[in-house]
Amino acid sequence: MSNKLMKMRAQQSIARQSRRHASALVVCEGTGKFVVGGNWKCNGTKDSIDKLCASLNSGEITADVEVICAPPMVYIDRVQSKLNAPYQIAAQNCWVSKGGAFTGEVSAEMLKDANIPWVILGHSERRSLCGETNEFVGLKTKYALDTGVKVVACIGESLAQREAGDTLNVCFAQLKAILDCVTEKDWENIIIAYEPVWAIGTGKVATPDQAQEVHAGVRKWMSENVSPDVASKVRIQYGGSVNAGNCDELAMKPDIDGFLVGGASLDGEAFVKICNSAAHSK
Ligand code: PGA
Repeated sequence: MSNKLMKMRAQQSIARQSRRHASALVVCEGTGKFVVGGNWKCNGTKDSIDKLCASLNSGEITADVEVICAPPMVYIDRVQSKLNAPYQIAAQNCWVSKGGAFTGEVSAEMLKDANIPWVILGHSERRSLCGETNEFVGLKTKYALDTGVKVVACIGESLAQREAGDTLNVCFAQLKAILDCVTEKDWENIIIAYEPVWAIGTGKVATPDQAQEVHAGVRKWMSENVSPDVASKVRIQYGGSVNAGNCDELAMKPDIDGFLVGGASLDGEAFVKICNSAAHSK
């Protein structure tokens, strides 16, 4: 089968599935403050990062939104000293337990000591490229929270899993591994980032309905497995090819409480526009 044909079939299958699920869509709606994260990943130089900070500082965040930027570890200190309010800082990863003989790692204690309030855990790139399992992400989440670092916990299905109709089951299994480690109170300090792997860095964003469907499913699962109160308060970000052009429409969906942005977060103007899409949220 040619690549083009395979791509077309995949798209048709995604569309079919979302039509099938649309009728079963339960909307509970999130009540938390809109929150946008910028995941800078492994990008930048001192020079480009200084320019990005200047551009972010000069952009006007007019919406009621919490904003968290996650620079590469080596530049965190630099970014922290340059970015003004309301920008908060996150690390992109941390170790699963207390620091020690773990070459190349950074401990949650170090993040806490360096006044870094957030960490992104379980990103699909770390799951797939560094072999992080659901259980490992659960343990990391608990350790970071117990150390006083808040967590953006990423979940999401691959294209093959979506095509097999497993989207929600994959997300639920990822969440269950976190649920098994944390207390009900811990959820106050967790943001869930739903990032379908097929949408990350591909330019192929989930449609607002596709994203809403999974967000509503996740919130329903949270309601049944944690509590209705936590389910309504927990913020669920969408991530995967969010940009300045598609953010407003996504933000309107009742269960989308923010975004986790990769590529477009490296463009200050675009990122500020994405932050301000919070004004379109319900
Ligand atoms: P993207 O990445 O916006 O470049 O698709 C999102 C993410 O990986 O957090």
